[in-house]
Amino acid sequence: MPGTKSVVFVTRKLPDAVEERLRRDYAPRLNPDDRPYGAGELVEYSAGAAAILTCATDAWPASLIERLPDCVRAIATFSAGYEHIALAAAIARGITVTNTPDVLTEATADVTMLCLLGAARRAFEGQALVRTQKWRGWTPTQLLGIELHGAMLGIVGMGRIGHAVARRARAFGMHVHYHGRRRLPPELELGAVFHPTLQTLLPACRFLSLHCPATPATARMINTGTLALLPPGAVLINTARGVLLDDEAVLAALDSGRLFALGLDVYDGEPNLHPGYRTRRNCFLLPHLGSATLETRNAMGFRCLDNLDAVLAGGLAPDALN
Ligand code: DGY
Repeated sequence: MPGTKSVVFVTRKLPDAVEERLRRDYAPRLNPDDRPYGAGELVEYSAGAAAILTCATDAWPASLIERLPDCVRAIATFSAGYEHIALAAAIARGITVTNTPDVLTEATADVTMLCLLGAARRAFEGQALVRTQKWRGWTPTQLLGIELHGAMLGIVGMGRIGHAVARRARAFGMHVHYHGRRRLPPELELGAVFHPTLQTLLPACRFLSLHCPATPATARMINTGTLALLPPGAVLINTARGVLLDDEAVLAALDSGRLFALGLDVYDGEPNLHPGYRTRRNCFLLPHLGSATLETRNAMGFRCLDNLDAVLAGGLAPDALN
């Protein structure tokens, strides 16, 4: 029927401005209670929908994509990461998948610096001391941490977020080295030193920050073998994806002193993180806040809608992944 708005199934509650635009342009099927849906519900609520606006908290394996109704033409994920969507299955169904690159770069790099500082300067222990009324006043040796200035930061994955972290690290006086699939053109390296392998990068890293996607090749890249290459007393930061760490190996490295501290924003199986992280005092832990500013979350939502507008108008989505 001319003028009828397309149905868009929105799996999680989104910021007000994004839901407003959805209501203006589409017939959205919203999730006001923000209850994470199970696989059966994801398929059920896709009935009659031209598109799905999903999040990294929803898993879309091939077995689920195969069950989607034929009317679904696009899946826009409200995330830069898209490891939760089986792209090949979507291609087979003629469904365009899009993500939200660029717009969360600066917010995520900020949280990386928060984790870096929080871990290096023992922010969790300091907070606990103050909040539990155990602080007896300043002492020359209380909660001594590690200085960022002059230290070596290794960045794994020099994409948009890795690069934004390198910019910030330089402002803190850190020396940046990096490993990625390819070397950046010198004018984009910001003086950072490229390592063709992780093995040559790790031995010099007092700080190590991960910024690569979760793929079969990167899963558990930080394990007993790679941790052994770090200098004793290193600080490990992960704001990318939890699956990059072998949790047991990381906890063992904390206990042995190979790692001085951890700064984590993401976890394998989140929100059910390995319980060992909660019990170690030298873990600075955040609940996946990387992109959590109103500005960025609005921009992510609008980016999803720009993509859906393009696909549903028969055009090419700016962020099409397949
Ligand atoms: C992303 O955009 O990938 C963030 O981690 C949120 O899922």
